[in-house]
Amino acid sequence: MEKKKITELVGIVVDILMYVILLVQMIYVFTGNILHEVLGVAFFVCLAIHIIIKRKYLLNLWKFGNKSAARKTADIATILLMIVSVVMIVSSMGVSRTLFPHFSFLGYTNLHVYLATTVLVLAVFHGGMKGFIRTEKKKRAAVFIACGCIVSIAVGSFLVPYLNRHFKIVRINHDVVLNGEKVNWQGSKPLVVYFTRVGNTDFKNDVDAVSGASLMLSDGELIGNNQLIAEMIENAVDCDVKAITVTGDKYPSSYGDTVSVAGKELRRKARPDIEPIDVSGYDAVILVYPLWWGTVPMPVAAFLESNDFSGKELYIIATQGSSGYGSSVDDIENMAKGANVHKVISIYCDDIPGSRDKIVKWLKEVTKNKNDATGV
Ligand SMILES: Cc1cc2nc3c(=O)[nH]c(=O)nc-3n(C[C@H](O)[C@H](O)[C@H](O)COP(=O)(O)O)c2cc1C
Repeated sequence: MEKKKITELVGIVVDILMYVILLVQMIYVFTGNILHEVLGVAFFVCLAIHIIIKRKYLLNLWKFGNKSAARKTADIATILLMIVSVVMIVSSMGVSRTLFPHFSFLGYTNLHVYLATTVLVLAVFHGGMKGFIRTEKKKRAAVFIACGCIVSIAVGSFLVPYLNRHFKIVRINHDVVLNGEKVNWQGSKPLVVYFTRVGNTDFKNDVDAVSGASLMLSDGELIGNNQLIAEMIENAVDCDVKAITVTGDKYPSSYGDTVSVAGKELRRKARPDIEPIDVSGYDAVILVYPLWWGTVPMPVAAFLESNDFSGKELYIIATQGSSGYGSSVDDIENMAKGANVHKVISIYCDDIPGSRDKIVKWLKEVTKNKNDATGV
């Protein structure tokens, strides 16, 4: 076979491989972290081969001259794809836990998820435009490209977070992730209040068979995401911790059913009965809560509304499956009457086991600010 034909064939195989890898990367909740990282490296190797093979075309990208409108659009998309891919390489190293553990200072998981979706959309557009330029059936090609882009956006924005929330069980060593640097908190210690599914859910005995996740397992013991964060603070500061516990019906074992029960509770502004938590003896409360339907779970609302926060500092830490704080900050400000609400951090559920350092850094800042204010 002549060299040109072989290069062409390699080019086609590499292109197909890249699309397949991108799609497999999206279901990393099933493939696991190590395969996700290895495939990530494989993707960028394929990209490098693709760039070498297409170097002549790429060198001409910047010369728009008398290109047709379709060609110009395709070229702009390709330039964008290259730029986003480079940023994606950096962000991938930042979120890598196994292959590139020393780049965690660049680790912004939410950004990584958005970049991955953008790469997928641009890659589909880039491939689609090649076909558009060649084919006579422009209308059909345009519809095809539009559908491909819409599906890609839906995969990145909805399917991936959905799979992640529903099917992920993270295995950790409780003691290892919990222990670390201590913080010398000045003045009266804060109260940590948290809400988690664990303890508020009728889980079946066989935890591995729990349908639906966003859970952590350590030696067969279930640990709620928010419980772990609360315990990290307790371990660092040695302060009181209280769990918000519903006293009526518990939430269903299935994640999906919990989502639907929580949706109904939100719509009717339910305030489930909870074991009372009295914050009156504390100057500061650190509230750790999961985002449910973009805001606080209704038992957390019940806790906030059943206390007087006048003059208290209320530090809030959210955990979530992609929504940041949602509308929870405004909602908490409305519910916790009199509190000085401070946003601390919103932690993506995958990042929870590794977030102790970030939390300690924040705790130290609060202590330092207290010292500065009191002139200690
Ligand atoms: C009922 C329910 C609704 C949720 N809604 C959202 C949401 O709107 N946005 C989001 O990013 N994550 C959402 N999540 C994911 C949780 O916020 C996330 O998995 C959290 O870390 C779970 O904490 P836990 O294990 O302590 O209960 C939802 C989870 C549940 C159970």
